[in-house]
Amino acid sequence: MKVLSLKTENYRNLAAKEYFPGGGVNIICGENGLGKTNLIESIWLFTGCRSFRSVRDKDVVRFDCDEARLKMEFFSGNRNKEAEIRIDEKRHITLNGIALPSGRKMMGEFTAVVFTPLHLAIVKEGPEERRKFIDIAISQLRPNYAKTLLEYTKALAQRNATLRAARDNPAMLAMLDIWDMELAKKGAVIIDSRIAYLEALKAHACTVYDEISSGKETLGLTYKEYARDKARGKKEIAESLLKALYEKRESDVERCITSVGAHREDFSIDLSGKSARLFGSQGQQRSAALSLKLAEANIISQVTAEEPVILLDDVFSELDPQRQKYVVSHFENRQVFITCCDEENISRIADLDVTVERL
Ligand SMILES: Nc1ncnc2c1ncn2[C@@H]1O[C@H](COP(=O)(O)OP(=O)(O)OP(=O)(O)O)[C@@H](O)[C@H]1O
Ligand SMILES: [Mg+2]
Repeated sequence: MKVLSLKTENYRNLAAKEYFPGGGVNIICGENGLGKTNLIESIWLFTGCRSFRSVRDKDVVRFDCDEARLKMEFFSGNRNKEAEIRIDEKRHITLNGIALPSGRKMMGEFTAVVFTPLHLAIVKEGPEERRKFIDIAISQLRPNYAKTLLEYTKALAQRNATLRAARDNPAMLAMLDIWDMELAKKGAVIIDSRIAYLEALKAHACTVYDEISSGKETLGLTYKEYARDKARGKKEIAESLLKALYEKRESDVERCITSVGAHREDFSIDLSGKSARLFGSQGQQRSAALSLKLAEANIISQVTAEEPVILLDDVFSELDPQRQKYVVSHFENRQVFITCCDEENISRIADLDVTVERL
């Protein structure tokens, strides 16, 4: 997977930019506010996923303009392809001139892994961030997983609405059976996939962390069930979820929330046996988040036999020179985009084969 060219039109502050990156490590350098993150974000949108920093599609349209356009030529599946994204209130994507019904159809066509300072939240913040990370990672590999997630979210909203209704009208309690079954069934698919993915991630991420830190600390990842028995395999998980949902029914009705299920589970990230969130230094937390992302890239290349494009925004801050050099030098056959403000970073890695783009 390689980006051959990118053209932006009224995309955030990038009014009109043409970019022809190199096939290996690309450094995008410039002062604060020149549009480095915007450039990374624009490439990311071609994965079909939403922006990592805006909820609304239209936020990326240049102020006072009606629409933004992006055009990218890329190499994937042994041939050159061309995709265009037009954004007004929503995103409209075409691939090789054919309009796609949804962004999900780009998944698999163009694959990337992105790391920005926002992704430090995977290590530093609560369970929601870790679920988001693992869910997006699996969705890129298996678009059906994204569909199951959507169905789960809908069933959850329905169950919560039924809980609210049941507070005033106990006859509604009977309706909960349907939603419990649906949540247990879909939840089991999600949890089973997450456990399997985490196992694969662990194998890669521990090696990457060991290399980044030159063996100074060891990374540990453990899946954490919440308020239900340890269960493995879709069938067992569905049974244990159904049991837990039933047991929590009374308190769920009181609080009008569903307190157990795939939307509450988590995984822990430890460094040498201690929580990275509570005890990790800034550089160690960054190294841990980065290891997860690079492990995600390794899994993509293993599963799809294509190397994903790597997008690293502001990755150098807080990393010592040895860790910085590791980040730049260990990508073989991969196209990488790294943003930085500081020319000094570039001189430090000048002996490596990099292409520099100055904004
Ligand atoms: N919809 C928009 N229309 C026009 N400009 C925008 C829009 N959204 C964001 N910007 C501007 O884009 C500029 C560049 O943002 P970006 O985050 O890409 O900078 P950067 O080069 O990554 O800076 P830093 O080094 O601080 O991370 C910001 O000044 C921001 O105000
Ligand atoms: Mg930036």
